[in-house]
Amino acid sequence: MGNLRLALPKMVTELPGPKSKEILDMREENVPGGVSYGTPTVINRGEGAMFEDIDGNIFLDFAGGIGVLNIGYSNPEVIEVVKEQTEKFFHTSINVVQYEQYIKLAKKLNELVPGDYKKKTMFVNSGAEAVENAIKIAKKFTKRSELVTFTGAFHGRTALTLALTSKVKPYKFGFGPFPSGIHRAEFPYTYRRPKWISEEDSMEYFKEKLHNFFLEEVTPEEVAAIIIEPVQGEGGFLPVPLEYVKELRKICDEHGILLICDEVQSGYCRTGKMFACEYWAEEGIYPDIVTSAKSIAGGLPLSAVTAKAEIIEASQAGGIGGTYSGNPIATAAALKVIEIMERDNYAEKAQNISKFVMTRLFEMQEKYDIIGDVRGLGAMMAMELVTDKVTKEPAKEETKLIIKECNKRGLIVLDAGIRGNNLRFLMPLCTTDEQLKAGLDIIEEALKVVTKVN
Ligand SMILES: Cc1ncc(COP(=O)(O)O)c(C=O)c1O
Repeated sequence: MGNLRLALPKMVTELPGPKSKEILDMREENVPGGVSYGTPTVINRGEGAMFEDIDGNIFLDFAGGIGVLNIGYSNPEVIEVVKEQTEKFFHTSINVVQYEQYIKLAKKLNELVPGDYKKKTMFVNSGAEAVENAIKIAKKFTKRSELVTFTGAFHGRTALTLALTSKVKPYKFGFGPFPSGIHRAEFPYTYRRPKWISEEDSMEYFKEKLHNFFLEEVTPEEVAAIIIEPVQGEGGFLPVPLEYVKELRKICDEHGILLICDEVQSGYCRTGKMFACEYWAEEGIYPDIVTSAKSIAGGLPLSAVTAKAEIIEASQAGGIGGTYSGNPIATAAALKVIEIMERDNYAEKAQNISKFVMTRLFEMQEKYDIIGDVRGLGAMMAMELVTDKVTKEPAKEETKLIIKECNKRGLIVLDAGIRGNNLRFLMPLCTTDEQLKAGLDIIEEALKVVTKVN
């Protein structure tokens, strides 16, 4: 087996290759189409930012398993810890027998999540489960029933988290009715502000809308929590402006509402800090509850709810968690992942990736009219594609074609956004400069092919 860690994309077959095709045909027969399908390839092994499929094609992965692989594929130190743990025990359930990895990881997250107050952390298995538990914790503490979420939000696919989620197709269509008590405020999507509002005035506009929302939609005294992603993920990689977060915090403080920061996609160094809400903390703003998941354990299923101790302690014993919550192998892996991220300064790696990639994306924006907006925070970056820069008509079909052209050349990328017209980048933070350049060259080639601009 060759070393993939420093490899560059190399295609030896068309997609799918013959061996992949066989497995994909089996998938068609046996797996429901509702489980969505990305690139037509079947992975054999991965290292760093690269993977090889079963036909010998070598791909560069700018999707990172949807933001799960910030540390990259197959980190040798994480593999070692996982091997050691598998030889000791797989499972006991923290509700039955205690194990130290769970407890040590909780301690670590209580130290890392910003906030100069006592915190406590519990674990579950997925992002949606973390959000579900955060909402239960908020309701229990406040003894209130109502929740505020945002347009463009994504918080998961369970019934409650779908109710919080905004995008109807494919996520919500036909799966209702959903739990009640959920109110949707307008997210400050400044690129898509009303045409008559200048960029300069847009923050005042969105803040005024927020105040009207609490007059027209829900009484603030009835609201248990406002949940927001510090950078909307599925919504198209939209960072929440700090001025808007300040306003949210003010409203929460005035009315006894809890502020939940959903860091499921933005956490674990993605945005150039361990948590994106560290940018809030620099302005003296702190959330009450933080949910995190995805890159926490390098690919093993794990998620966390970290909250002010007095808030999370309001829930009775047995009221939160679940059988598999905080699995011993996953929590052991997470401790190692976080140790490596701190030791090797993954937050700085994200900042360097951001500089490298954003410079090139802005250059491309000058050349290709289809690129309406380039934005992001740290290495959580996206470009929004439009057929017309003035009307901002979403270029949804072109986005799909560009992804296909990238795939053909050995690059995995994802779309995002309510209108499906964003290309988002979640490359592992160990991607080398050479690999970044190769990936960006492929994106530019794909843009040329699809837009027919040279
Ligand atoms: C911000 C955010 N919250 C929650 C979720 C749901 O996480 P999961 O798919 O692990 O349930 C996601 C998934 O993309 C997310 O991006």
